Amino acid sequence: MTVHIGAAPGDIAETVLMPGDPYRAKWAAETFLEDVKLVNEVRGMLGFTGMWKGHRVTIQGSGMGMPSLSIYANELIRDYGAKTLIRIGSCGGMQKQVSIRDVIIAMTASSISTPSTGIFRELNFAPCADYGLLRAAADAAQVKGITTHIGGIYSSDVFYDERPDLNEQMTRHGILGVEMEAAELYNLAARHSVRALAVLTVSDHLQTGEALPSEDRERSFGDMIDIALTAAFT
Ligand code: ADE
Repeated sequence: MTVHIGAAPGDIAETVLMPGDPYRAKWAAETFLEDVKLVNEVRGMLGFTGMWKGHRVTIQGSGMGMPSLSIYANELIRDYGAKTLIRIGSCGGMQKQVSIRDVIIAMTASSISTPSTGIFRELNFAPCADYGLLRAAADAAQVKGITTHIGGIYSSDVFYDERPDLNEQMTRHGILGVEMEAAELYNLAARHSVRALAVLTVSDHLQTGEALPSEDRERSFGDMIDIALTAAFT
């Protein structure tokens, strides 16, 4: 047990999928895994371990934002020995060619600040995905025929962003989408020599104002989870 995860030693798999929403962790575990066991419910941040095609997987909610993700990712890596961590979540599209329901695989994650800013100080560290996972996810998306974009994303500290000028600069520099967790996941993976990737579903669009209707969410999120699981075990 750690401060925020009640799982017994050995209850967490080496491969962990991390949705922001604990109820999405429950849905993903019940939909994709067999022999599912609830391994964490501290603070309602649900975590489940089960089997996918003969491989052991944990799906653990991260909460929203980098400070929350940092708590769970630190404990998963440092105390439970997680070696592959894949964020599965939603993002806002930032480019014309990116549509609602598309999948984005985050090669890099830019930010204004992360929980690691205090240790990097003047260093502008470039958080990036594990190349093997990225390549496997890209291949899986192609085989499954899922419309997927691969490139840089923006990990924001705020959902209600008051900086339209910053979004314009992001868009001008090719950033595909905005979410709130990946940059710190990539920082932690680099620090602890583990593998990380973020596979995201576009749930809304900053330029068009479109948003994914709730009845479409499960099918679209399913594509992303399928890509993440396939990439983890390629
Ligand atoms: N996650 C999904 N949509 C988002 C947005 N527009 N901004 C930040 N995080 C998001």
